[in-house]
Amino acid sequence: MNLLSMSYLPYWFLQTKLLGKKKPLQTVLFINNQCNLKCKHCAIYAREKPITKTFAQISEELKYSYRLGARFVDFEGGEPTLWREEDKNLNSLIRLAKQIGFFSTTITTNAQRPFDNIIADSIWVSLDGIGKYHDNIRGEGSFEKLLENIKTSNHKALSVNTVVNSLNYPAVEDTIEFAKDNKHIKSICINFHTPFEGTECLMLDWKLRCDIIDMVIKKKQCGYPIMNSISGLKRMKNMNFEKKCWISNFIMADGKRYPQCQGKEEGICDSCGFCMAGEMYSIMSLKPDTVFAGIDLRI
Ligand SMILES: C[S@@+](CC[C@H](N)C(=O)[O-])C[C@H]1O[C@@H](n2cnc3c(N)ncnc32)[C@H](O)[C@@H]1O
Repeated sequence: MNLLSMSYLPYWFLQTKLLGKKKPLQTVLFINNQCNLKCKHCAIYAREKPITKTFAQISEELKYSYRLGARFVDFEGGEPTLWREEDKNLNSLIRLAKQIGFFSTTITTNAQRPFDNIIADSIWVSLDGIGKYHDNIRGEGSFEKLLENIKTSNHKALSVNTVVNSLNYPAVEDTIEFAKDNKHIKSICINFHTPFEGTECLMLDWKLRCDIIDMVIKKKQCGYPIMNSISGLKRMKNMNFEKKCWISNFIMADGKRYPQCQGKEEGICDSCGFCMAGEMYSIMSLKPDTVFAGIDLRI
């Protein structure tokens, strides 16, 4: 991200904070819902008739999001690395986003396929525990494959995204240790299960959630490479705050466009586990640690 692009950030902040406009800064764009895993906590992958968007549709959706104000894009799925159209692949979409004017691109992958050629500015690999904990949620053998593929990816900005639920909560501390010791991983981001329809049973007990947040805060204070800011983590202990989740607009695999996370439609914001809820609130309150975490993530 260059200096000119950076000057957009204070402009965006003034427009939203002072003028009260709800302009997104980031787009979460689902390019398919086809997946090579069937994770227990996921309500997104297609149980039948998977959708893969066309290049033309994605192009139109990127331009729409750019017009709204978004300058960062996260390509999501399904499994985004599976996306193809004739001779085009995920890198074609990343190049397209840059041509349109997006400052930075991210993908989230389950790392079941090699992704050493992916040119996104940063890569999120989903890691839901170590060994059997990860496999229990994501399928037998998926942890080993993930290890192999992050080893060969050589990406300079590879971080892991962990979603804590009632199955893997005993593994959180070990997962943070693992992220610290693995030289291919830059940082770890801690989220909690969000009870989308059909996955409610994986919701973590609230007291346990607060205890885990306290442990994560302590580790962060000791210098562990945890992406969440302390201000954002504290917010996640009690979801009773005014959500600022319009900072990301969402475009789903079926083409539905939401000005914020789909969780709002489902009425589950008060049980939300996405750390971004707390981070976005703290960004708008200009909490210095959250601002620095955001800069580290994006720049
Ligand atoms: C839907 S997946 C798609 C990308 C890719 N297939 C993967 O597994 O990383 C994107 C992220 O959402 C997380 N996720 C899925 N269901 C969730 C839920 N109910 N609550 C919180 N995060 C969830 C996943 O763990 C993953 O990190």
